Amino acid sequence: MLVQATQGHSARVVVLGNEKGGTGKSTLAVHIVVALLKAGQRVATIDLDSRQQSLTRYLDNRRRWAEHTGLSLELPEHRAIALGQSMQIADNERSEFEEFADAVACVEHSHDFIVIDTPGSDSYLMRLAHAMADTLVTPLNDSFLDFDVLGNVDPVSHAVIGPSHYASMVTDARRQRRQLDGIDTDWILVRNRLSMLGSRNNDLISGGLKELAMRLGLRPLEGFAERLVYREFFPRGLTALDDLDEATLGTRPSMGHVTAREEVTALLRQLKLPLDERGRRRAANRAEWFAQADTPLELHDIVGA
Ligand SMILES: Nc1ncnc2c1ncn2[C@@H]1O[C@H](COP(=O)(O)OP(=O)(O)OP(=O)(O)O)[C@@H](O)[C@H]1O
Ligand SMILES: [Mg+2]
Repeated sequence: MLVQATQGHSARVVVLGNEKGGTGKSTLAVHIVVALLKAGQRVATIDLDSRQQSLTRYLDNRRRWAEHTGLSLELPEHRAIALGQSMQIADNERSEFEEFADAVACVEHSHDFIVIDTPGSDSYLMRLAHAMADTLVTPLNDSFLDFDVLGNVDPVSHAVIGPSHYASMVTDARRQRRQLDGIDTDWILVRNRLSMLGSRNNDLISGGLKELAMRLGLRPLEGFAERLVYREFFPRGLTALDDLDEATLGTRPSMGHVTAREEVTALLRQLKLPLDERGRRRAANRAEWFAQADTPLELHDIVGA
């Protein structure tokens, strides 16, 4: 029965990627995951950053905080891929590939989304994930040092001279994907840690991104401002989408929490991830049930259609 019900269905693969480290991949990954879960979607996650395992640790912290507080915080079905331990690169790549392929096979027909967090460096598995992406989300800090992995910039005019290494790798991965099944990966560039004060640097980067967007076929989006709350969420595995009350946060909610929630909600709408209708209805029903039980939840407007 279950097989029949799920036949033909294949989860949408959302990959967080950028060859530059520390741009906000894991932070954004956990916000996307929690938003999708709150919208009633069935979500699986795979951590390919086998060394740091930030997403794995974030979700472990979330589980532990839920146990400690007795709150029912949403969690995805998660798997971390172990690095191959052999001295031979080919053997390592084979074992990592097998583990990754198995992780995908276990969830691709039973879940609506697979969210994959990748390491901030080039690797075999990272390339493989990019070639599988239906949606590729690349966070980018507002600095020309970060911009450099996407495009080379003329020192005088700041005009984009050409794509750099990571952009070329993504272009190749997208071409392979198109040839394989005709699907064009939706590549979204999310600016992160934006300064709240406008600057000439911001304007120059905006201009460069517009030019790159035309050349590479990607969508640049304004993401998150630089806010302390994003850094404080990790030890409790929380996100700006969780209830902003003292019981959930373990501290008093601030204006920073409220504005973070607004910008996360706005970004998620613009990602335009296609939601499964049944899941959305389940979430709406649950919200209504909670509302009647006098525990208001704001689930409806987290992810737009
Ligand atoms: N908008 C933000 N405001 C403030 N701090 C942020 C913001 N986004 C991310 N950070 C912080 O920046 C650091 C890097 O973020 P994160 O670990 O999500 O990046 P990453 O791309 O996954 O890094 P890596 O390449 O090492 O895996 C973390 O300390 C995180 O808490
Ligand atoms: Mg990370």
